[in-house]
Amino acid sequence: MKVLVLLETQNACKRFGGLKAVNNVSIKVEQGQIYGLIGPNGAGKTTFLNIISGTYTPEEGKVFFNGKDVTGIKPFKVCHEGMARTYQIVRSFPNMTALENVLVGGIFGGKMSRHEARKKALEYLEFVGFPLSPDTFAYELNTMQLKRLEMARALSTNCKLLLLDEVAAGLTPGELNDITVLIRKMRDDMGITIIIVEHLMKLIMSVCDHIAVLYFGEKLAEGTPMEITEHEDVIKAYLGENYNL
Ligand SMILES: Nc1ncnc2c1ncn2[C@@H]1O[C@H](COP(=O)(O)OP(=O)(O)OP(=O)(O)O)[C@@H](O)[C@H]1O
Ligand SMILES: [Mg+2]
Repeated sequence: MKVLVLLETQNACKRFGGLKAVNNVSIKVEQGQIYGLIGPNGAGKTTFLNIISGTYTPEEGKVFFNGKDVTGIKPFKVCHEGMARTYQIVRSFPNMTALENVLVGGIFGGKMSRHEARKKALEYLEFVGFPLSPDTFAYELNTMQLKRLEMARALSTNCKLLLLDEVAAGLTPGELNDITVLIRKMRDDMGITIIIVEHLMKLIMSVCDHIAVLYFGEKLAEGTPMEITEHEDVIKAYLGENYNL
C-alpha cells in the first residue's frame, strides 16, 4: 500500500537576526503517524512548528501539507486546510466558557454552523475527558483541564494534522498517563496525524512511531524510538549516557 506523506518540509530555514533558529530542516510525516520532535531548550522546536503552521514564513525552504505547497500561507488558511495546534504556553479565552472556547475552533477554524459546532464541541469535550461542566469559565480551570480544553478546541477544527507543543509540561504522573492515552486515542479513533514536541522522554518514547532530533536548529538524527535512544550523537547532545528506555 502506498504511504501518504501528509506533511513535508524541505530545507526549512528561519533566522532571528544572526541566529539560525531553524537551519535546513527537512522532515516527512506520514499520514497516521505520531511524529516526535525532541532536542534541548532553544534547539528550534517551537520555531519549526511555527514554520509548519504558517506563523512564520521560512526565509528558505518549503512546507507541503496534503500535497499542497503551504509555504508562507497565513495560519488561519493552513487551519482551513486541516492543520491545528496547541501552544507551549496554554492559550485560552479566560472570560469565555469551556464550550465557547471550543466553539471558536469549530466556527472559525472548522467553518461549521453554530448549531453543528455546538453539537461537535460537546462531543469533543467528552472525547478529551473534560471533567467539568461545559459552562465552566476558562479562568477557573487548572493546567490539565486547560490542556484538555485546548485539545478539544484543536479537534473542533476538524483537523487532519495536530501539532502539540509540550502538552505534557507541568503535569503529574497520573495526568501524564491520561494525556498519553488521549494522544493515542486521537490517532487511533479519529485518524489524526500528530507531531509532538516534548521533553518528557517517557511520553515521547511510548507514543511516537518516528522521532527527529533538533540540535542548534539543525536535524541531528531521525529514526524509530529505539534507533534514537541508541544514536551516539543524540546520546552525546541530548539524552546522556545514563539514558534507559
Ligand atoms: N521571536 C524570537 N525572536 C528572537 N529569537 C527567538 C524568537 N523565538 C525563538 N528565538 C530563539 O530561537 C532559538 C530557538 O527557539 P525555540 O523557542 O524554537 O526553541 P525550542 O526548541 O522550542 O526550546 P524550548 O525547548 O525551550 O521550548 C532560541 O535560541 C530562541 O532564543
Ligand atoms: Mg519550545
